[in-house]
Amino acid sequence: MTEADLGVEIAGVKLKNPVIAASGTFGYGEEYAGLFDINSLGGLVVKGISLKPRQGNPPPRIVETPCGMLNSIGLANIGLDAFVKEKLPYLSGLSTAVIVNIYGHSIKEYAELAGALKGLSGISLIEVNISCPNVECGGMAFGTDPDMSARVTDAVVSRADLPVIVKLSPNVTDIRAVARAVEKAGASAVSLINTLTGMAVDLGRRSPVLGNVIGGLSGPAIKPVALYMVYQTAKSIGIPVIGMGGIVNYRDALEFIIAGASAVQIGTANFINPRAAVEVIEGIRQYCETNAIARISDLTGSIRA
Ligand code: SIN
Repeated sequence: MTEADLGVEIAGVKLKNPVIAASGTFGYGEEYAGLFDINSLGGLVVKGISLKPRQGNPPPRIVETPCGMLNSIGLANIGLDAFVKEKLPYLSGLSTAVIVNIYGHSIKEYAELAGALKGLSGISLIEVNISCPNVECGGMAFGTDPDMSARVTDAVVSRADLPVIVKLSPNVTDIRAVARAVEKAGASAVSLINTLTGMAVDLGRRSPVLGNVIGGLSGPAIKPVALYMVYQTAKSIGIPVIGMGGIVNYRDALEFIIAGASAVQIGTANFINPRAAVEVIEGIRQYCETNAIARISDLTGSIRA
């Protein structure tokens, strides 16, 4: 039996397989290195980096929900300088695609971040987070408006020397409008979905459970919503779609690919099973071999609908 070709290409960047560890669930890569060979991944996205370090939101910042999780981290991160000095040397030695997720308070900050990453070795792609529901400035405030999304994208693309993925919010009426706007503004790919805004109430205290009141829902609970949005989006734009939202096993991943995703990201599942991503890769390989699928890329958008 010939081995299936799991390689995919996103904006000219070759990934050895379509499975990427999602931002905010995989630290800066190194944290998972003792658990499996992270070079076996198609890629990894680091926790969102801002110009200055951020403490994030007050605790509690995580609540478990039926089939999912609410987080309100508030983009806590070490900031650009520490990332470049302390994390990039390790990341640049990896043989998997390193994707740097960026977050700015303003369009100017997004552009500055893109400019600051210019010329640094070891980074394959930039992912622009315009979809975090847990911050007041930037984040979802940009990502729910097609014009603002396009302006952020244009600012990043004009300063960056790497292809740009824009990470979209599901908290909109029509995600296709935002996808089309960022494509027109120069995005090389989109990733979706980020979390759905939600909250939890503590009955005893009659107060919100999360320190920031609201949070983003992720995990298997959101998979049908994510799948539908990936399906809709993939049909309406010409750039690759990276699907995510509740993927825990290879079957979920294949559903996203068949619905139109060129690659997938594994997020919340990493917290339940740190080896989830490698198990998904292995499952996809076996599925392709059992079903005589020579190239995983042939499955992208192959849905009969
Ligand atoms: C967070 O740090 O609050 C989560 C990031 C995101 O949802 O984009």
